[in-house]
Amino acid sequence: MSDNIQTVTVLSKTTWTPNLFSFTVSRPDSFKFTAGQFVRLGVNPSQLKYYQQTEVSDETADTALDEDVFRAYSIVSSPFDEVIEFFSIVIPDGAFTSQLQHLQVGDELLLNTMPFGFLTLARYQKPLPKDLWLLATGTGLAPFLSMLQDLKTWEDYEHIVLAYSARSLDELAYVEKIESLQEDFGMLVDNPAKLIFIPIVTREPVEGALSERLPKLLLEGTLQARAGIALDIDSTHVMLCGNPDMVEDTKEALKTLGLVMNRRGEGNIAVENYW
Ligand SMILES: Cc1cc2nc3c(=O)[nH]c(=O)nc-3n(C[C@H](O)[C@H](O)[C@H](O)COP(=O)(O)OP(=O)(O)OC[C@H]3O[C@@H](n4cnc5c(N)ncnc54)[C@H](O)[C@@H]3O)c2cc1C
Ligand SMILES: NC(=O)c1ccc[n+]([C@@H]2O[C@H](COP(=O)([O-])OP(=O)(O)OC[C@H]3O[C@@H](n4cnc5c(N)ncnc54)[C@H](OP(=O)(O)O)[C@@H]3O)[C@@H](O)[C@H]2O)c1
Repeated sequence: MSDNIQTVTVLSKTTWTPNLFSFTVSRPDSFKFTAGQFVRLGVNPSQLKYYQQTEVSDETADTALDEDVFRAYSIVSSPFDEVIEFFSIVIPDGAFTSQLQHLQVGDELLLNTMPFGFLTLARYQKPLPKDLWLLATGTGLAPFLSMLQDLKTWEDYEHIVLAYSARSLDELAYVEKIESLQEDFGMLVDNPAKLIFIPIVTREPVEGALSERLPKLLLEGTLQARAGIALDIDSTHVMLCGNPDMVEDTKEALKTLGLVMNRRGEGNIAVENYW
């Protein structure tokens, strides 16, 4: 096993919907990361209580039970937390999440403690523009929650817009957490209105939420109107995370609005695709 791989223990689990859950694990003392980064998590089904307590079919046992399966996972929690939190989809036939969905408190997972990824605010060169826009679909919310629990993010920007798109209201996870961040960090920086949260629910009408996809909302100016601020090349950093089709289509919409990709610290747009 690689030197970087450590065993961590599941400390809590929150189920949002049959296809979405969050969990926390113990944090190894030496593990450091920057808000926005991801790690590789590993599961060996034979270490999950579910499989120890359940009679598994010969087919499952033959194919999966002895193998560690690793996948990239963004960290939800702040770099200063004692535990590490993750937010996960369940893909019914997915090699990783079809196993991970069964995890219970006390189970052990593998954590590769080498953090990866450049969807961090450190990628942007100073001087910083006024505003930060964080645009997510589904579990792509995770890195933004980590950034929003870092006081520096709040100190560095005048406005922070978080637009978060899910198919249905029940899949719009972490809304209470976002509201408490608005309140708690808003108070710390003496500006309760700094974080502008824009929920988007695309497959059912929900009062207070927008209902169109992000590129359309941007091109029509609906998102900017809802935020109450302009989105332009001089005033804005934009980060996109989640569904690769959303990332591609939104990137194109932003380019149409005059924004440019961030390279070597300069430019507006930074992205992370989840598959
Ligand atoms: C940098 C990075 C960070 C990631 N962070 C997270 C995270 O924080 N939470 C998380 O749940 N996943 C995250 N993923 C995706 C994750 O690595 C796995 O793909 C996911 O756990 C599914 O694994 P699987 O083996 O069950 O299915 P896979 O075989 O990996 O995927 C099968 C299909 O499921 C769909 N899919 C995969 N991941 C997602 C997702 N997150 N949301 C919606 N559909 C998806 C895609 O259509 C994909 O082709 C991240 C991926 C990358 C590259
Ligand atoms: N969510 C479920 O009920 C469900 C159930 C079973 C399996 N799954 C599987 O889970 C995966 C998807 O899960 P998910 O719902 O978290 O992710 P998702 O399909 O990425 O949907 C999340 C949000 O992203 C939006 N979106 C998708 N493509 C976009 C684009 N090109 N531009 C802008 N916005 C875009 C969706 O809008 P739209 O609604 O307009 O697409 C939705 O609001 C798929 O593999 C799916 O088969 C999901």
